Amino acid sequence: MPLHRLESLSTYYTHFRRRPPAGRRLAVCRDLSCHLAGAEAACERLRAALAERDEAVEIERVSCLGRCEQAPAAALGEQIVRSDRIEDVVRVLDGQSEPVDDRPAADWGEAKLYAGRGQHFSTLRAALDADPAELARVLEEAALRGMGGAAFATGRKWSLVAAEPANPKFVICNADESEPGTFKDREILRDLPHLVLEGMALAGWAIGAERGIVFIRHEYAPERRALERAIADARVDAALGQDVFGRGFHFDVEVFVSPGGYILGEETALLECLEDRRGEPRNKPPFPGTVGLFGQPTLINNVETFVHATGILARGAPWWRGLGEPGHAGHKFISVSGDVERPGVYLVPFGTSIGGLLERCGGMRAGRRLGAIAPGGASSNFLPPDRLDVALDFETLQQAGSMLGSGAVIFLADDHDLLEVGLNVARFFRNESCGKCVPCRVGSEKAVKLVEQAGVLSGKTLARVSELHATLARTSICGLGQVALAPLLSLAEHYPDLMRGE
Ligand SMILES: Cc1cc2nc3c(=O)[nH]c(=O)nc-3n(C[C@H](O)[C@H](O)[C@H](O)COP(=O)(O)O)c2cc1C
Ligand code: SF4
Repeated sequence: MPLHRLESLSTYYTHFRRRPPAGRRLAVCRDLSCHLAGAEAACERLRAALAERDEAVEIERVSCLGRCEQAPAAALGEQIVRSDRIEDVVRVLDGQSEPVDDRPAADWGEAKLYAGRGQHFSTLRAALDADPAELARVLEEAALRGMGGAAFATGRKWSLVAAEPANPKFVICNADESEPGTFKDREILRDLPHLVLEGMALAGWAIGAERGIVFIRHEYAPERRALERAIADARVDAALGQDVFGRGFHFDVEVFVSPGGYILGEETALLECLEDRRGEPRNKPPFPGTVGLFGQPTLINNVETFVHATGILARGAPWWRGLGEPGHAGHKFISVSGDVERPGVYLVPFGTSIGGLLERCGGMRAGRRLGAIAPGGASSNFLPPDRLDVALDFETLQQAGSMLGSGAVIFLADDHDLLEVGLNVARFFRNESCGKCVPCRVGSEKAVKLVEQAGVLSGKTLARVSELHATLARTSICGLGQVALAPLLSLAEHYPDLMRGE
């Protein structure tokens, strides 16, 4: 491999290092949910406390660790600790204790029913006796939408890739989940890995693929191990591998660990990464369904999409449609974080109101009042506190001026500096811009600098940031640039007085 290619890769990926670190490395998250939990102050206190140790500990501020319900989060290798609990950090550094896992149990009653069925791959076994085209048809009848953010119709995607004549084809599970506020795929991978695998094998049968790849983020090591155990078990049971269940269908799954960066969740950046290049998004079309991995037709779905596809193929489209609130179909895993009593992952019927979800997670933390809502993670526009009536659903949230994204609701108390909150989000997108498009690379930095220098988001500053947003939205080739400045501007729309510093 020529040196310039090695250089281009080693300088691109966050988890590649050219030199060993000076000491052990404590990665401290600074993104939205952790910011709300006081990450900056916690980081400074940690820095002061650790400076007194003999051993050098490098404190590195990193992008979202996918532990938003344990905010403010930090990681020492695979161990997650709260950065505001100095004694815990010190104990973990000293190897004196296992870190406390104070994650609340995921609240997803209905999915446990999926779990029992999935372990035996009975849906796959039955599907192998049926026409593969039937699978996409049932998903279309159920109107299942992709759960990775873009909400594309899943049945339609499966039938489009099935119709492609080229071979071989690939099935990819997108488990990169790196947007601040999102961590539902982590819990699904940990608790229901066999359902993800079954969904991938069903997709393989439906489109005519023999190879599946799970692209998983670097920070999900325990989840990767759960998945690898499930793969090994499935091979023993002949649910994966050569001649699945003796029916002449070959399908196996491998795991690829992401070398780091939020942009790799974008499906074509993910493909570039799998092909050993810098993970920069491709221009679309062609879409991956036609020209995907190594130029071959490739089906890419989110972790949760595969789980729901398995459920629907086991129980039928009417079952799925009956799960939603009246006028809505299906249910959704939602990551809840911010200033609420019980942050965590909740399985809720589509159409549940934001207020209903807030109630289910115990309401706002004692003494806090709701000030703003980010209903679809860091990339979604903020909503004011009087919008608790809005239903969690793709169309309804879009009509309300925001989006559901991959399903990450962040509740903000009313005592936060909202300009700082907006800047925090804009800085995340600036940091994570891959740099391929000039407007996104330069414009995101420019907007952050303008607001930092002005200390307000009104008048001339607001006009210039709005103009930058319009340019980014029109000229960026991927969703990151298209939304990078939108959440910040949504705050200016809903809280004009606060943005003037009043
Ligand atoms: C910047 C960016 C980051 C993304 N990150 C993810 C991700 O982490 N996981 C995911 O499933 N989809 C992510 N997506 C969406 C994917 O490109 C793609 O639409 C999705 O994986 C398709 O699966 P679905 O149809 O099941 O939703 C991202 C998109 C963009 C623009
Ligand atoms: S919009 Fe931004 S993140 Fe997306 S490809 Fe362009 S530069 Fe990269």
